[in-house]
This record gives sequence, C-alpha cells and structure tokens, in this order.
Amino acid sequence: MSNLLTLLKTLLALPRKRVNGAASVLTGWWLIRLLWRLRLLVAVTLVVLFAYSRWGWVGLVLLAVLPPLLSFAWRVLHPQSHTWFVNALTARHRLRHTYGSRWDAVIVACDLHRPVPGGAHLTPELVKVSLVPVGDVLHVRLLDGQAPADFARQADELAHAFGVPEVRVTNAGPGRVELVLVLLDVLAQPVTLTDVPAVTDLRKVRFAIGEDGLWRTRNYANIAAEVGGGVPGSGKTAGETSLACGLIQNPAVQYVVVDGKGGEDWSWIAPRAAAYCAEDEDLNAVLAVVEQVHGLMRHRLKTQKATRGEANFWNLPLDPAHPAVFLVVDEVQTFTDTKGMDNETKQLAWQITARLSALVKKGRSAGIITRLLTQKPTSDALPTAIRDNASVRTAWRVMSKDAAEAILGPIVRDAEVSPVDIPEAMRGVAVVATDAGRLERVRFPFVDEHTAETIAARVAGLRRELTEFGAPTTDNEDQEAEDDAAGVRT
Ligand SMILES: Nc1ncnc2c1ncn2[C@@H]1O[C@H](COP(=O)(O)OP(=O)(O)O)[C@@H](O)[C@H]1O
Ligand SMILES: [Mg+2]
Repeated sequence: MSNLLTLLKTLLALPRKRVNGAASVLTGWWLIRLLWRLRLLVAVTLVVLFAYSRWGWVGLVLLAVLPPLLSFAWRVLHPQSHTWFVNALTARHRLRHTYGSRWDAVIVACDLHRPVPGGAHLTPELVKVSLVPVGDVLHVRLLDGQAPADFARQADELAHAFGVPEVRVTNAGPGRVELVLVLLDVLAQPVTLTDVPAVTDLRKVRFAIGEDGLWRTRNYANIAAEVGGGVPGSGKTAGETSLACGLIQNPAVQYVVVDGKGGEDWSWIAPRAAAYCAEDEDLNAVLAVVEQVHGLMRHRLKTQKATRGEANFWNLPLDPAHPAVFLVVDEVQTFTDTKGMDNETKQLAWQITARLSALVKKGRSAGIITRLLTQKPTSDALPTAIRDNASVRTAWRVMSKDAAEAILGPIVRDAEVSPVDIPEAMRGVAVVATDAGRLERVRFPFVDEHTAETIAARVAGLRRELTEFGAPTTDNEDQEAEDDAAGVRT
C-alpha cells in the first residue's frame, strides 16, 4: 500500500528528475520528461494530425477557421463571459511565462528575498495574476517577517525591474500584498458618459473611477453632508452633475439645487428638481428654499417615528412617498462668506448659514443629504461647524496645502496623494478618502449639459413638490409671486 502511495506521489511530482543518467537513457525516461515539458505543442500536433488523417485538408481548414469563429460568436452572444475567459487565460499565461519566469530574479535583485543557511534563499510566493483596466495585479504571499511596507519601499526598483512606469503596492490582508503594475494612467483621459445608469441602491452609488480603472461607490445612507472644494474650473459642478444624473432617475430621490454662481450651470435640472434657485444676489429667495428643506427635516424628525414606525429614515425602506432629499448648494461661499455684504444681506446670510448648519448636523436621520460645493474651503467661507460635520469630502485641484487640509482634514499632511499635485489640465480628477480612511485619486466622469438635460427631461415626471411630503409652504402667495418674478420655483 505504502509502495503504491510512493509511486502515485512520484507520478504526481512529474516531471521532476527521478531517474538519472544511464538509467534515464535506457528506460526512455528522458523522452517522457521532454514530452511532458512540451505537452501543449504535443497536444496541438496530435489534434492537427488527427484532423488531417480523418478529414484531410478540410479538417485542417476547419481547425484553422472554427476556433476564431466560435470565439467571435461567443463574444457577440455573451461578451461578459467571453472577456472573463480570455482574461483568465491571459492572466494564467502571464503568471507562468511573463512574471513567473522572472519572479525569483526580480525579487532577489530588489532585495525582497530572505537568505537561508547553506547559500539558498526564500522568496515570497507569486500566487496569482489578475488583469485590471490599468494593468496587471500580482497577488503575492509574503514571507514570515515581511510586510507590505517592505514592498512599498522597493516600488521604484520593482517598476524598473518589471519594465513598467509604476508599481503600486496595496495591503491585501494578513500575509498578502498586491502589486499593481501600472501600464496606463487611467486618470489622464476624461471619461465622457453619453448616458448615466439609474441609481437603484443609495447604499452603492457609483461616483468616480479609481486609479485601478474600477468604479468607486459611496454609501449615502446615514450620511448628513458632503463638502467638495476646488479652484474654479477644477470640475466641481461637472462632478456633482454626473452624480445627480444617476440619482434623479430614482423615484425615491428628490433634488433641491441652489446655485450660488447665479449662472446656467444647473438649469438642466429645473424640470426634475423639487426646487431650483439660481439666485446669487437675492438671498431672500435662497433662504426660502433652504427654509423649506429645513422645514421638511423638522417635520420628519418630529413625526417619522409616529407615522412610519422608525426614528431613523435609513432604517425604513426607500419609498417615493418618502423620498431621500439631496440639497445641493453650489458655490456656497456666496451665501456664507459675509465679507463685503451690507447689514441686511448679512442677516440673511447668517440665517442661511444657520439653516445649512442645522441640516448638516441633523439631516441624516431625516433622509436629507446636504451637499456643499465651494471654491473657497476656508473657515470664513465654510464655517467649521458645517465642515466638520460633513462626513464625505472631495478635493478637486486646490492651490495650497491649507486649502487641501481645509477640505480633507489633517490626514492630508501625511498622505502620499494631495489635491495640490493635480495638474490644471486634469479637470475632473479629485482626491477622496476611501472607506478605509486612506486618500486616493479618482476621476469623475463627465456628462455634458445636453445629455444631462435629456436625462432630466426623461424623468421630469418623478418631480414632486417638497410640500407634498410635509415641508412648509413658502410664506404667503405674495412671496411666491415675488419669487416667481425672481426666477425661483419652490
Ligand atoms: N470630469 C471631467 N472630465 C472632463 N472634463 C471636465 C471634467 N470636469 C470638468 N471638466 C471641464 O472643466 C470645465 C469646468 O468644470 P466645472 O465643473 O464647471 O468647474 P467648477 O465647478 O469647479 O468651477 C467643464 O466645463 C469641463 O469642460
Ligand atoms: Mg462650478
């Protein structure tokens, strides 16, 4: 029995050298080993010979034509599984031949091996290769005593050794590290969308593309506020627009937009927005809109438990009769930075700021998400009470470290990426915090105004007045008439 096991083990361990020298020549063992090594070539030759002997030249022609034809048909019928299969084959090939064959030499050259007594050495194991849009990912099992930081220190050397522009090192759990061999900077090129898929799950909202070329998602449940900052023209409004285009297609979402730039940037959303105000000077009109959202928040906080059975909006199912409300205030410093305002306007500005502050602090359990965008993220434009309560932050290109810190917080001081480094030409690239609290660069997709307009028109029927959900009406009829004249619709 044990002899049988030994024989089995020996067979499984093929084609290792078991029989050497004259014995190998005499028994023909060398030939078996050679054939095993060239098994792919042998298999192909056998198939070709079989096809030829069976069907003659027709067989050979079929053999040459059928596989590409089948592959093409597969690709047309089910592109996902075809891509998956081709990627799996390519990854396997690269594991064996492109990276596997050089792995030991590269690891030793980059000083990531461990010598063992007797002159030999141990190397971390290359377990798997996978393909991502940005390049190849090498999944590595670390040696005892090694940490991902050891690889991060040698990232430059690894990049040169593998002949790629950059190697990114990520921790992949205990004892594991992933090396991303970057062949292409995905963030360099704009991603223009000609349509945006509807957001069906607010807990998983696609918002931008990461450096690995994959979509990043955010969980908007249990979030009260988001702050985004960046110099004019860095892509704030465009980023927010692409996000809004997905969200407004959800019947359980209502949008309220206040545009402090006072231009036409947001006019596309008017047919779908519960309220839209592009006033940059008439702060009364802005206050009326903000008051309405604030009123809805108070109404929900007071009645939600009694009427719907839960105090927290996010513990209830999403329902068009009780929509999540997104309040976007673009260029919010127009209303919060009181420098240079006359006394009366200042009073209004303070009232707006107070309402926004309350929304940011208490809106979460009422299902109201306040989103503030500004080109001036400093404390005079964005009170710290507001900023510090915004749990999600996005920094597009900024000019100074202080501005970066004002948006992202002190974490930016020690981070490897900074919004200050984003080149001017890379509009739409921003720095955000990941779920794990690390900072990373992402690119927001670009949706042009006409596409956004088409989407908003398509789903205009989903628009509801906030008053339908318990928000107070804006003052009296006179006020409404005044607002209409000022171009405000609530
Ligand atoms: N994600 C993006 N991809 C490509 N181009 C962009 C992107 N975001 C912005 N842009 C370009 O930059 C311009 C200014 O963007 P915008 O969002 O209006 O800047 P901001 O609101 O920060 O002042 C846009 O008109 C567009 O041409
Ligand atoms: Mg803007």
